[in-house]
Amino acid sequence: MRTQVGIVGAGPAGLVLAHLLHLEGIESVILEARGRDYIRQRVRAGVCEHPTVELFRELGLATRMDAEGLVHEGLSLRFGGEDHRIPLTELTGKSIVVYGQQEIVKDLIDAHEARGQQIHYEVSDVSLSEIDTERPRISYRDSDGVSQVLECDVIAGCDGFHGISRPAIPAQQAFDREYPFSWLGVLAQTRPSDDELIYAHHERGFALHSMRSPEITRLYLQVPNGDRIESWSDDRIWSELDTRLAADGFSLIEGPILDKNIAPMRSFVVEPMRHGRLFLAGDSAHIVPATGAKGMNLAIADVLVLSRAVKELLLHKNPEPASAYSETCLRRVWRAEHFSWFMTTMLHIDPAADPFQRRLQVSQLQYTVSSHAAATSLAENYVGLPFG
Ligand code: FAD
Ligand code: DHB
Repeated sequence: MRTQVGIVGAGPAGLVLAHLLHLEGIESVILEARGRDYIRQRVRAGVCEHPTVELFRELGLATRMDAEGLVHEGLSLRFGGEDHRIPLTELTGKSIVVYGQQEIVKDLIDAHEARGQQIHYEVSDVSLSEIDTERPRISYRDSDGVSQVLECDVIAGCDGFHGISRPAIPAQQAFDREYPFSWLGVLAQTRPSDDELIYAHHERGFALHSMRSPEITRLYLQVPNGDRIESWSDDRIWSELDTRLAADGFSLIEGPILDKNIAPMRSFVVEPMRHGRLFLAGDSAHIVPATGAKGMNLAIADVLVLSRAVKELLLHKNPEPASAYSETCLRRVWRAEHFSWFMTTMLHIDPAADPFQRRLQVSQLQYTVSSHAAATSLAENYVGLPFG
């Protein structure tokens, strides 16, 4: 088989890239390790930053997002049992939209199928070769176990943190930080306990109140690394959330837990994000701890840069934007890395922190909510800096 752009992975990065390329008249083929139902249902991110929402509107992909997404004009930092609202829209003129990543994935797959394109699901043994040439190749087994080769002009490695694309690049430098805690994420069938997101700093650990719809609440708890989900009964989860989110006038509304899992918190960047005709995008090149709500948004920012570079390379024989791809993306990546690290270290309890560090943390929280400049800086990063 032959195509112009071979895309490995049907997450937000791969799916948005296929859409952008299609609009430029560039052909692509997506190979995905999992099945169609699985990727449409995988519960992950929830916050779409302003530039992401605007891009989806421009691309004609926001019909359901505009109808069902929840527009948020502020969020709360809760500490010392008190709420401190950061008025995002008042400070920046912009808002964010809470709309589940799996809904975005569904909308993108529906658009892909509506234009007659198929995703090749349940592929295995994927490997890349000839990436130093103008005819890079992807070898894989299809869902029937038959060996296939996809010959391309460009390969986009959109296969997430555990994919095969990143290891195909020689001589990379990796920047890595693991945090001494993980997140236990819960999806509950109950109306949200508040209209807005609440980021709570508590001596027992961080907690986050978010939502997916007027009927579904999304909640997160800081838990020690190595904790198993089996040791978190539904009762224990609600009791811990109740303690950490406690504040005057707030009561947590409980309901049946539909889904729960534990995810590690990590910062990771690989440089460069490109080698020859292989370009990495999204989680395959970088990971942020989830506190800043940046991962999915960053994946989408990468593929916007990539689609422009591929267009110049393939349609206008101009290699400049492709050569600058890594450097262009990494500027936004490092800003998001810093913001995500900042939100994470400000809000979580590091079990190894000494009293000096704890007091610095409280001081940072107090400054963030009492200084117009500091609150504006948080808000500007949270709603998302403009795509270049
Ligand atoms: P992925 O979504 O990981 O997609 C990669 C795809 O490649 C997958 O479908 C995978 O099956 C496939 N694949 C892997 N290996 C292969 C292979 N060898 N061959 C073929 N296919 C392969 N981000 C935000 O912006 N906002 C948030 O609010 C937010 N909250 C989060 C909360 C949690 C609990 C978690 C875990 C993450 C959160 N994120 C958030 C991060 C966000 O989910 C990711 O950054 C995002 O999914 C990255 O998209 P991607 O397309 O790069 O990678
Ligand atoms: C959600 C996830 C985040 O990581 C975050 O910072 C805010 C909200 C969510 O899943 O709703």
